Amino acid sequence: ALRSVVVGCGSALPARVVTNDDLAQRVDTSDEWIVQRTGIRQRHLADESETTSVLGVRAAQAALGEAGLGPEDIDLVICATSTPDHTFPSTATQIQAGLGIHQGAAFDLQAVCAGFVYGVATADKFLTTGAARRALVVGAETFSRILDWEDRTTCVLFGDGAGAIVLEAREGAGTKSDRGVLTASLRSDGRHRSKLYVDGGPGSTGTTGFLRMEGRDVFRFAVGSVTDVIEDAFRASGTTAEELNWFVPHQANRRIIEASADKLGIAREKVVLTVDRHGNTSAASIPLALDAARKDGRIREGDLVMIEAIGGGFTWGAAVIRW
Ligand code: ACO
Repeated sequence: ALRSVVVGCGSALPARVVTNDDLAQRVDTSDEWIVQRTGIRQRHLADESETTSVLGVRAAQAALGEAGLGPEDIDLVICATSTPDHTFPSTATQIQAGLGIHQGAAFDLQAVCAGFVYGVATADKFLTTGAARRALVVGAETFSRILDWEDRTTCVLFGDGAGAIVLEAREGAGTKSDRGVLTASLRSDGRHRSKLYVDGGPGSTGTTGFLRMEGRDVFRFAVGSVTDVIEDAFRASGTTAEELNWFVPHQANRRIIEASADKLGIAREKVVLTVDRHGNTSAASIPLALDAARKDGRIREGDLVMIEAIGGGFTWGAAVIRW
């Protein structure tokens, strides 16, 4: 049977680092409040030239470099983003062009913070059915462009960045010790729209709009609901929390992450945390965290890795990957 094996990983962050103290000069907040409630200490924010596709291209180039592959080797580009450069064409096609890829298909996928998990699940279907051979899955965001910088309850939480992986279809025995995506489990429920949304768009105000959030409700839903997809993913892959080497959740908030890990019986030392450095980068947060844990030597070939996220909609999902 075909498996989608991770053969490269890369990321890109804007050069500009903004600390909590920097933000406190702009809005009525403090380092102490932000760290205590969220675990965030700093975030990277894009300058004008660093668009979502620019960051996405940089992350994808790094992933291709690690894989030792060139543009001619990729026949699928999926970009998970909620902050595209334009309404259309898709950011994925801009990344495709930026990389010099002229074959195959490229499209954006919008599931907000769960976008990367949705992207991996989607690419996996293409690869394991033989519809594509090598896929680039990118999570790229510039949430700084949809933040209301007057609203201290939201603007302190987010950052910009991009991450990417290359997945390659390989023949395997189909066991849980074979490398590749073992399973992915997705959910959504559109009844929760008002909890987390952007108050603009072509069909409403005609402007881009700003992110709006009911923080407490999102927190409650996040901790309450991630466990069901994670338990599904463990069950479907025949793996357990004990076997897991690394838990790489969407990086929204340290308290959400630790509460979820505790609830699932995942030891704290297996949890990869980057929210302190990156803030919440939505669809980019998981591949940014994967790349950080790859580069610092934590995630190694053969390790069992769980990725998990919840985002606006709500949308949520989890995937188990033998790295
Ligand atoms: N600085 C200082 N004070 C603030 C700030 C700030 N940046 N923001 C809010 N406050 C104040 C509020 O005004 C309020 O003051 P009051 O008590 O005088 O009214 C007080 O702090 C408490 O506000 P709450 O909103 O109740 O604070 P809470 O403890 O719920 O923490 C937070 C807020 C961090 C947003 C929390 O609800 C949370 O983490 N929610 C999850 C949301 C999330 O992570 N979303 C990310 C996007 S979704 C996703 O990625 C899954």
